[in-house]
Amino acid sequence: MPAHSTPRDFDIVVVGELNADLILTGNVTPAFGQVEKLVDDATLTIGSSSAIFACGVARLGLRTAFIGKVGDDIFGQFMKNSLAERGIDVSGIVVDPSLKTGLTVILSRGNDRAILTYLGSISALTYADIDQALIARARHLHLGSYYLLDSLRPICPRLFADAHQHGLTVSLDTNYDPTEQWQGGITDTLAHTDVFLPNEAELHAISRQPTTDNALRALHQQVGLIAVKQGAQGATAIHNGGLFTAGSIPVQVVDTTGAGDSFDAGFIYGYLNDWTLTDSLRLGCICGALSTRAAGGTAAQATLSEAQAHLAALP
Ligand SMILES: Nc1ncnc2c1ncn2[C@@H]1O[C@H](COP(=O)(O)OP(=O)(O)O)[C@@H](O)[C@H]1O
Ligand SMILES: [Mg+2]
Repeated sequence: MPAHSTPRDFDIVVVGELNADLILTGNVTPAFGQVEKLVDDATLTIGSSSAIFACGVARLGLRTAFIGKVGDDIFGQFMKNSLAERGIDVSGIVVDPSLKTGLTVILSRGNDRAILTYLGSISALTYADIDQALIARARHLHLGSYYLLDSLRPICPRLFADAHQHGLTVSLDTNYDPTEQWQGGITDTLAHTDVFLPNEAELHAISRQPTTDNALRALHQQVGLIAVKQGAQGATAIHNGGLFTAGSIPVQVVDTTGAGDSFDAGFIYGYLNDWTLTDSLRLGCICGALSTRAAGGTAAQATLSEAQAHLAALP
């Protein structure tokens, strides 16, 4: 029986960043000089890759806990309450009154977006904030947005080694590196990672290989299982030296925010339930595609029965 099949209180503990997204929709270009322009709509919603992933696995029915850090403010309360409303255990979220919770403002115009992010408490999450007892109650640890977690990043190899000691498996979605340096000890971290979940641009940047095949083969020397997300094309995985692919499903795309995080949710659902690699990839693609049907990362995330209906309909 794999280590992640042992009985635990939680299927997944997510370690990562928390911020709200404020989405402003309208055909406008902002201008300095105190120019006021009107937009058509404004929505405050759950942002941050790690939170969107947590909501995705919770929606698929996995028992989920979250470890992160917020300030004692309205955006921190919004994020904590939003996760708790979805049945996610928030006891591992540290509230630090000396910090401000991060916020992303997205100006959405047709199929293009301008994004401004204030990191706030995200970069202040430290190893000391992590409740090891909570980790020990889960079967699997997922860490999101590695490149935003400035204080935790150097300690990730230790965090992952701790998780393995507690019998958990570990997945990592680094997401984009805003500094575009793509360093920060990623090799050590990957050496302690069971499942690596980059998108294609991130895979190429991290491996410094221009083709997806070469990049997968290079990083496969450190990580046993890698699944790379390829947008509308679907996804490709490498395991035991073999390549596996799955196409996505056709979908009326409204907003692709968080599609990669919903892919991760579906893929890790299959992984934890010992599905075949091909079926796990297919579930990931279905969850990623379905999540694009509505604005924001979580509003259109699939339930298990909805995703399984699409899986059953595949040729
Ligand atoms: N336009 C699309 N049509 C169909 N499926 C999509 C589309 N965009 C994303 N997806 C699905 O969501 C998954 C993740 O999206 P992707 O854009 O590759 O990741 P990320 O958000 O991390 O960049 C894809 O593997 C695919 O299955
Ligand atoms: Mg992503």
